[in-house]
Amino acid sequence: MLGSHLIKLIDCLNTVVNNPSASPGPDARQGARFALRADLLDFTAAPAWATTALDAASPAVRWRPDHWLLVEDGRIAGALPGATPPGDDWLKLDQRGRLLLPGFIDSHVHCPQLDVIASHGTGLLDWLNTYTFPAEQRFADPTVAAEGAARFLDALLAHGTTAAMVFPTVHKVSAQALFEAAAVRGMRLVTGKVLMDRHAPPGLVDDVVQAQTDCEDLIQRHHGQGRNSYAVTVRFAATSTPAQLAMAGALCQRHRSVYLQTHVAETLDEVRWIAELFPQARSYLDVYHQHGLLHERSVLAHGIWLDDTDRALLAQTGAHIAHSPSSNLFLGSGLFDWPAALAHQHGVSLASDVGGGTSLSMQRTMADAYKVQALRGQRLSAWTALHSATLGAAQALRLDHEIGHLSQGAVADLALWDWAVGPVAQHRDAVARGAVAGLPAQELHARVFAWLTLADERNLVASLVAGSLRQGRLDTPVP
Ligand code: GUN
Ligand code: ZN
Repeated sequence: MLGSHLIKLIDCLNTVVNNPSASPGPDARQGARFALRADLLDFTAAPAWATTALDAASPAVRWRPDHWLLVEDGRIAGALPGATPPGDDWLKLDQRGRLLLPGFIDSHVHCPQLDVIASHGTGLLDWLNTYTFPAEQRFADPTVAAEGAARFLDALLAHGTTAAMVFPTVHKVSAQALFEAAAVRGMRLVTGKVLMDRHAPPGLVDDVVQAQTDCEDLIQRHHGQGRNSYAVTVRFAATSTPAQLAMAGALCQRHRSVYLQTHVAETLDEVRWIAELFPQARSYLDVYHQHGLLHERSVLAHGIWLDDTDRALLAQTGAHIAHSPSSNLFLGSGLFDWPAALAHQHGVSLASDVGGGTSLSMQRTMADAYKVQALRGQRLSAWTALHSATLGAAQALRLDHEIGHLSQGAVADLALWDWAVGPVAQHRDAVARGAVAGLPAQELHARVFAWLTLADERNLVASLVAGSLRQGRLDTPVP
């Protein structure tokens, strides 16, 4: 039975949901302390690419079943076994029987493309022209941009994603709207105005001079403000002139802490087009290298049609690939060679790439990543999949001092999940737990793999950003 004091505190945590502008700012959270009891799962290192010996014995997997996670002033303050709760001055939220993970990180996703997600019938270049470019033109309107940014960030939170690297549109207002909406929610966001000065409709092209002015202004206003970071955002080499690519490279030089995001080697048609446009480049990736766009904060989506020289260049420069399996399957782009990436030791994060991808759910993204590797004759472990959506992504984005894990000192960006929703998943989870008569309990890996294969946003109980509840409720009974 909850005491009225406790109910008031939980109400307080719950009220910010659906009304982000009414949420307490960092000051209001000063001194706020609470403890969440659940099964804690995160990583302390990269798990080996393994198809055998997959249980929690992997030293990279940190499995703390039935523990209290302590949160103070928006940061993780520690963890305690379930049987030894913290003292009376901690609000205790007993979510025993649920799974608590670091909030997911979606390293490549397009805000305006919620308007075109699940559009039928085309491969990348036709899809851009038929669906995506027309939809993106609406974001020139500040009202559309603001509403779109709010809808998009709330949708991320509803999928347990608390940090993202996002493409808006070419319009300055669309980047501005995302920065403002993320600040209201306290979310960790990396974004920047899209650069495109050719091969796009008139409403979607900028020019080098105006684009540079807009980028400089956005960097000055938003980069490093709160949890916002700027990304020089080259759509892809086909939509920027060499002069614009050079300007983008100069921006990266001038502002060493900004990110760079773009697409690379997604489809064969695209690769052939880039070879025509840049005949002097050794490869598609080399176009970016020649313009000074590859560095340790560079995030390149897809990277399906790369060769080993490209992979070595990624490793050498510290740039990494945002693998987007849902999009690659939906658009028919190809099958990412993850083992080759590992062999060359360049980073790989996971990304939904909505609206090429068909879901913001990182569980669905992980499940698709498994299927992509299966089609290549490989088997992706749940550990590698989950790591690349949490700690691995944080490390690739150079944000692991802040997010991606449940260590003391990390920002309390958290997602609380039901292990199973619906009769099929509930039965499968019971089998994994050894709760079905006559069947032995399975290794943790089997349970987690079944979870990420069967779960999606319906499993989300709550998303917390810097210790503030942003989606869901923390007083719902555990099924
Ligand atoms: N390449 C250039 N633009 C895009 C885009 O919006 N989505 C995807 N998947 N690939 C791209
Ligand atoms: Zn994309």
